[in-house]
Amino acid sequence: MTRKIVELGVELGPLTLRSPLIGASGTVGSVVDFVGVSVPAAYGAMVAKSVAGKPWAGRAAPRIAPAGVGMINGIGIQNPGIDAWVAEVGPQIASAGVPVWGSSVGTESDEFALVSKGLEAAGVQAVEINLSCPNLHGGGLIAFDPGASAAVVSAVRGAISVPIGAKLAPDASSIAEVAGAVAKAGADWVVVANTAMGAAIDIETRRPKISGFIGGYSGPPLKPIALRCVVEIHRQHPELAIIGCGGVMCGKDVIEYLMAGASAVAVGTAHFAEPKVGKRLLAEIDRWCRRHKIGSVRELVGTVQEW
Ligand SMILES: Cc1cc2nc3c(=O)[nH]c(=O)nc-3n(C[C@H](O)[C@H](O)[C@H](O)COP(=O)(O)O)c2cc1C
Repeated sequence: MTRKIVELGVELGPLTLRSPLIGASGTVGSVVDFVGVSVPAAYGAMVAKSVAGKPWAGRAAPRIAPAGVGMINGIGIQNPGIDAWVAEVGPQIASAGVPVWGSSVGTESDEFALVSKGLEAAGVQAVEINLSCPNLHGGGLIAFDPGASAAVVSAVRGAISVPIGAKLAPDASSIAEVAGAVAKAGADWVVVANTAMGAAIDIETRRPKISGFIGGYSGPPLKPIALRCVVEIHRQHPELAIIGCGGVMCGKDVIEYLMAGASAVAVGTAHFAEPKVGKRLLAEIDRWCRRHKIGSVRELVGTVQEW
C-alpha cells in the first residue's frame, strides 16, 4: 500500500512555497553558508541576515545570552554592506538548494531601496524589509510608526519587482495598523514578528548580559506574543498574507501559527541548538496531519474556531 503524502506546499501572496517553513533572518547566516549544516530541502525559503548600504560593525561582545527559556541578542545587525554581500553571496544563490530571500535594512527609505535593488540584482527570490531599525525622524523603531514603515515599503516597492515582505515589531502599539499601512504601500506579506525588546542582568557581575543592555528577546516565550500579533492582523486584514515568527520549537507550534492565519512560519532561535530542526518540524507536522486526516497543510490556514 502506498503511503499517502501530506501536501506541504502553501501560497504566500504571489508565491507558492514547497514548504510552510522559512529560515528566519539572522539565524541562518547568509543562507549559502548555513545550508551545509542544515536541511535546506525542508524549507520553502531561507532569509539571509539583514544587510545595509554600507558595512555595519555591530555591537561589542557579549552580544548573545540565554535569558530564561529564551535568548537575548544585541548583534547590532553586523553586516558587510550590500556591495560586499552581492560579491560574496550573489554567485552562490542559484546553487543554494533552497530559495534565498534577502533582507534589507537601513536608516532612510533611500538606503532600504538601494540595498533591495542590490539584493534583487544578486538573484534573491524575494526581499524582506527589516523595519526594526531606529527611526531617525522620531522615537523608537521604524516598525512602531505606520507612516514611516509605509514610506520605506513604498520606496522599496518602487525600486524592485520581486515580491516583498515587511518584517514588523511585536512591541508596536498597534501592529495591525502598521500591517495595514505597509500592505497599502505595496508589501506582498508581513512577517510577524521580529524579536521583542528585552533586557537581562547577570546578578553576580551586576552587568547586563549583553553589552548593549537592551536587545531582542526570542525563543519560546515570544510565541504567545507573536501569535497574538498574527491574530490581530488576520482579524483586521484577512486578505493580507502573513509569515508567523517567534518561538517555534516543534511541529505543533507551526500548526498553531497556521490556524491563527499565517500562511507560512519562520523558525529562528531553534537553529542555534538544532541546525537541522526543519526536518524534525516537517516530520511532526506530517504526523499531526495524518492523525487528523489533513491532506494538505494549506487547509489549516486561518481555521481556528473562536469560542
Ligand atoms: C541572533 C539573532 C539575530 C537576528 N538577526 C536578525 C536580522 O538581521 N534581521 C531580522 O529581520 N531579524 C533578525 N532576527 C530575528 C529573527 O529573524 C526572528 O524574527 C526572531 O528571532 C523571532 O523568532 P524566534 O523566536 O524563532 O527566534 C535575529 C534573531 C536572532 C536570535
